[in-house]
Amino acid sequence: MEAAHNGPVTGTAAPGTVTVDVAVESPEEMKELGRRISGVLAPGDLVMLTGELGAGKTTLTRGLGEGLGVRGAVTSPTFVIARVHPPLGEGPALVHVDAYRLGGGLDEMEDLDLDVSLPESVIVVEWGDGKVEELSDDRLQVVIDRAVGDTDDERRTVTLVGIGARWAGLREELAAR
Ligand SMILES: Nc1ncnc2c1ncn2[C@@H]1O[C@H](COP(=O)(O)OP(=O)(O)OP(=O)(O)O)[C@@H](O)[C@H]1O
Ligand SMILES: [Mg+2]
Repeated sequence: MEAAHNGPVTGTAAPGTVTVDVAVESPEEMKELGRRISGVLAPGDLVMLTGELGAGKTTLTRGLGEGLGVRGAVTSPTFVIARVHPPLGEGPALVHVDAYRLGGGLDEMEDLDLDVSLPESVIVVEWGDGKVEELSDDRLQVVIDRAVGDTDDERRTVTLVGIGARWAGLREELAAR
């Protein structure tokens, strides 16, 4: 179901980024991909989800939440900027952010005064491009592409791009997941 390759995904990716392509055929597979990605996540990780409306960003986050074992259903955070899902066990909390209405970027994110330690949490951000990159030198960028023009088509191509030293040695782990 998956193909992996080295090297930058686009001309703008920095050299040394880790890139893995995954073919996803259904919402259930998207959730499963989230569960599998959760296995490599650690406290302090930043995951940025990119993809158009309805691409499957929240669906993948649901899988991340299940895999991490956190409390509360992961739903679209459209009417709140961020939702904290505390861990049920020993793992990190999941902080699920919809940055769509986050005008000021990072400062505003810190001003949200979330009752959680960001360095001890996994932070997953929808619509964060150009806004939250400064939160961390490293990030896992998840780019979801849908077959153009057909909203009934459930096929997606997901490109995982690991940016920074955190992800440098983890191509195999991401590809196997
Ligand atoms: N392969 C797929 N992966 C994920 N969702 C899919 C897939 N195929 C169809 N869908 C459907 O597309 C919708 C995706 O919704 P979801 O809320 O996850 O998208 P989103 O990217 O978070 O959208 P938004 O930008 O509004 O936040 C769901 O209704 C889901 O059932
Ligand atoms: Mg969403």
